[in-house]
Amino acid sequence: MANNPAHAILGTGSYAPERVVTNNDLSKQVDTSDEWIFTRTGIRERRIAGPAETTSFMAAEASRRALADAGVTPAQIDLVIVATMTPDMPMPATACLVQHLLGVPATAPCFDLNAACSGFLYALDTAWAMLASGRYKHALVIGAEKLSSVLDWTDRTTCVLFGDGAGAVVLGPARGTAGILGSKLYAEGAHADMLCIAGGGSRHPAVTATTAEADAPKRAITMRGREIFKLAVRQMEDAAREILDLHGLPAGAVDCVVPHQANLRIIDAIAQYLELPTDRFFVNLERYGNTSAASIPLALDEARRAGRIQPGHTTLLVAFGAGLTYGSALVRW
Ligand code: COA
Repeated sequence: MANNPAHAILGTGSYAPERVVTNNDLSKQVDTSDEWIFTRTGIRERRIAGPAETTSFMAAEASRRALADAGVTPAQIDLVIVATMTPDMPMPATACLVQHLLGVPATAPCFDLNAACSGFLYALDTAWAMLASGRYKHALVIGAEKLSSVLDWTDRTTCVLFGDGAGAVVLGPARGTAGILGSKLYAEGAHADMLCIAGGGSRHPAVTATTAEADAPKRAITMRGREIFKLAVRQMEDAAREILDLHGLPAGAVDCVVPHQANLRIIDAIAQYLELPTDRFFVNLERYGNTSAASIPLALDEARRAGRIQPGHTTLLVAFGAGLTYGSALVRW
């Protein structure tokens, strides 16, 4: 912690679709209830994107807000990374569409990255390393998801958990003591089948002579919820502890934890294991559900706007997701 960091988050922004779908709305569609969803997950409602609210559109809107917050223009951006598992199209990369929407110069590499719900932390680490190479100065790091497009709306065990949205940060040269202090990423591919979208890739192609509506569930998220729950708690706790140890920080030195927003019970369990009060965690999942790669940057932006993150604060970001991937980052403001 002795040296000032070289790169910092200069601005944050987020975008949530206009349409709110409550638990009660869902209970008219599948056999569920507000009481079941809220007590098991902490979720009350989620945003569902309309046809014009594509992943690239939401990503660009969040980015515009992050750029304005940072005081950086699109012309100054020389790297765009979109973390998503719901790109507008399998190809080209959604980042290229965002580049065009924003007017980012052609000299900027633009690519997507898929680490599911850990995607934003993977993208942040990647952008940070690319900036550290000295070849890039300002990066847009975006998490954006239209998960409503990959849900089986007849499956009550998954469709109640997820939502749509986007968040973005501008990464650039640090000013003063604020900056990214560290980042640690993990993956346990042995659990890849525990949470997946089985179809649409080369194993079960989206386009075959036999593709029929009967295959539709393969194009939706499937999940072994209970097993994921236990692994999520263990992985997020490990990721949090390791980055704190690496930087010689006790958990109590963290002013605000911004965790992946999947389930309030998972967050409460981590708080308990880290021996931190739950009010040290920023939580907005009751209004958005799990927005995967968008969840941390959306929460980060709201935490800043709510005054939960102040100059001088140290923030711990921690995530887990399909892969299974997980990770953590320490950021000083
Ligand atoms: N409404 C009502 N009942 C539901 C339901 C719903 N939306 N979804 C499942 N149920 C039922 C189940 O069918 C089961 O019924 P049964 O006992 O008759 O078989 C019962 O509720 C309990 O299901 P279970 O899966 O054991 O519940 P749970 O307490 O483990 O909670 C999750 C389920 C999904 C909320 C929880 O396991 C979880 O959050 N897991 C982590 C998932 C996650 O975060 N994934 C994203 C990773 S990034």
